[in-house]
Amino acid sequence: MFNNLTNYEDDPIEALFKRIGADKSVDKIDLGIGVFRDQSGQVPVMQAVVEAEQQLLKQNASKSYMSPLGNMDYCADMERSIFGADHEVLQRIVSAQTPGAGAALRGAAEFVQSLSPKATVWFGSPCWGHQIEFFERAGLSVKQYRYYNRAAGKLDFTGMLEDLSALQEDDVLLLHGCCHNPTGEDLSLSQWQRIAEVVREKRVVPLVDIAYQGFGSGIDEDVAGVRLLAGQVPQLILTVSSSKTFGIYRERAGLLSIVHQANASADSLRRKLRDTLRQLYFMAPNHGAAIVHEILSSETLQQLWRDELNAVRHQIVEMRGALKVTLEQVNPSFDASFIQRQKGMFSCLPLSAAQQLRMEQQHHIYMLPNARVNVAAMSTEQSKALANAFAAIIGE
Ligand SMILES: Cc1ncc(COP(=O)(O)O)c(C=O)c1O
Repeated sequence: MFNNLTNYEDDPIEALFKRIGADKSVDKIDLGIGVFRDQSGQVPVMQAVVEAEQQLLKQNASKSYMSPLGNMDYCADMERSIFGADHEVLQRIVSAQTPGAGAALRGAAEFVQSLSPKATVWFGSPCWGHQIEFFERAGLSVKQYRYYNRAAGKLDFTGMLEDLSALQEDDVLLLHGCCHNPTGEDLSLSQWQRIAEVVREKRVVPLVDIAYQGFGSGIDEDVAGVRLLAGQVPQLILTVSSSKTFGIYRERAGLLSIVHQANASADSLRRKLRDTLRQLYFMAPNHGAAIVHEILSSETLQQLWRDELNAVRHQIVEMRGALKVTLEQVNPSFDASFIQRQKGMFSCLPLSAAQQLRMEQQHHIYMLPNARVNVAAMSTEQSKALANAFAAIIGE
């Protein structure tokens, strides 16, 4: 059984980690993995999380199993955090707490496959590579629509609409709620409106994945698009990550929600969701979800968390501004305004795969495919090194 293995070596993210590990330069810069770092290079733990954990410890709560649907208090909190307390979809939603949004996406893939195995799932090009993998592994067909023009540094909305004209009934349209990974390029509210029309015309199911609420324009501002869309379409799948928003990456808390038509049976959907997740990984972990609930159910902790998350966003916005200026200073003919305009952790530099490899070999700077750089993991010194290396590479 364990002989003749075919190793899965093509995953570009795993391959990058290996190259970073093998590079012994003291000056190497890792702009790959999606974590927020403070200016000292640490991945900080929020004070709100520390205090919530202390309170949880005092409660000495049971560690017995919950259910495959996870922590229901967390689900209610997250539904309100995404849609607001008064949104009408709260009357037609069933949710599960999952081990992160990765598991929520994998669960969504299994859920869709079991109900509609012939559905095609549509992803933007480019998109976060693992997303495609989750759906392909569930046996679904996948296609990509144009989303971003890297050379021009902007959204290709015309190309996107042209490609979406091929959507078939019951296909799934995957959208990023905010802070698009990897491009940082988000839809405007009028573009979300147009997408709502396409969804209704084509009778497809949108799947909105939100991993960076609060990292773009604000905690509520970042979910304005999904709020608009959800109010205008009969059905929607939602996946949410608490990894970045609460800085609890390894605790694995996420949300998988199904927004259904008012006349659908919520009870049947909930049972279907529970069975799907149980067959996939049996039970959800609780610690991360319990931390989030502790924070969101206390006015003081919630305010502390909001302040800390706002500070993270301000650091990212400042770094984007500084990187734009530095890039333009060392490359006078290069327009880097897209870096400042884009939102969240990531932006893609206009570098070919070969140029990206030279960045690694000559300058020890590591990025993910599509020359995706994590602006939220960069110190001021590193942003200068990146700008200089970029100038050297494009000047070759
Ligand atoms: C768009 C997107 N969705 C989902 C995830 C997965 O997040 P989690 O850590 O909650 O599994 C990520 C993580 O990078 C992401 O960028």
